[in-house]
Amino acid sequence: MHTNSKLIYEGKAKQIFAINDPNQVLIKFKDDATAFNAAKKAKFKGKGILNCSISTNIFEYLMANGIPTHFIRRDGDSSIIAQKINIIPIEVVLRNTAYGSICKQTNLIPGTKLKKPLIDFYFKNDILNDPLLTRERIKLMEILKDEDLNFIEQLTYKINTILKDFFLNIELDLIDFKLEFGLNKNNEIILGDEFSPDNCRLWDMKTQNVNIKSLDKDRFRNDLGDLIEAYTEINKRIDHFMSSP
Ligand code: TMP
Ligand code: ASP
Repeated sequence: MHTNSKLIYEGKAKQIFAINDPNQVLIKFKDDATAFNAAKKAKFKGKGILNCSISTNIFEYLMANGIPTHFIRRDGDSSIIAQKINIIPIEVVLRNTAYGSICKQTNLIPGTKLKKPLIDFYFKNDILNDPLLTRERIKLMEILKDEDLNFIEQLTYKINTILKDFFLNIELDLIDFKLEFGLNKNNEIILGDEFSPDNCRLWDMKTQNVNIKSLDKDRFRNDLGDLIEAYTEINKRIDHFMSSP
């Protein structure tokens, strides 16, 4: 850990520290897991290191494919150095297959492949329980200009195209994921937060067994088996893919 590190923010799964450079932060991935707005909590030894490793590889891959992100470099086992950003309080969820909350709120049957990807926006606000937003509500709250929301939407579709193919190579089906964006010191919108099995759904294409094919946080949310085993498997497949010629 850097000298001079001062905790400036603690979230459910990460801590953010100030470092010497005022335009950068150190982000530490914790072993804690929460679900249903922290109604369910647990600690998984080794999750922080696994998510740091997975997220580092994914962010490096996205940047190599032209996506602007906050990521600068990995710093030890469970931390990264990133650009300091002002997080936009909108959680951007992209769905390729219907699962989770959308199936509780619509008549879509879990596992239905969507004809085209769907983007849902949620208000990042724990007190309000992260409610689903509409474009008009985002405009009313003056969180973002329409053109910035369009930019975020296009970037999210692009990230999906890149990552769907990436995961197909390692026989993982990218069901859905959540992204967060922020503004850096130059007022540019860039991808922040993390990309890990904590905030996406990945189904193992090597098995049809519905009880074990979830290799993501649904293992914890829905008591589907060992979370660390699943995250280790994802990390192993990504490492193998990234290191093959
Ligand atoms: P949902 O089915 O609960 O709407 O979740 C959709 C995706 O978003 C899923 O991959 C999990 C992720 N997600 C988060 O990362 N954080 C959250 O707070 C929620 C509710 C979902
Ligand atoms: N991240 C959410 C929580 O804080 C829920 C989830 O990922 O399902 O509990």
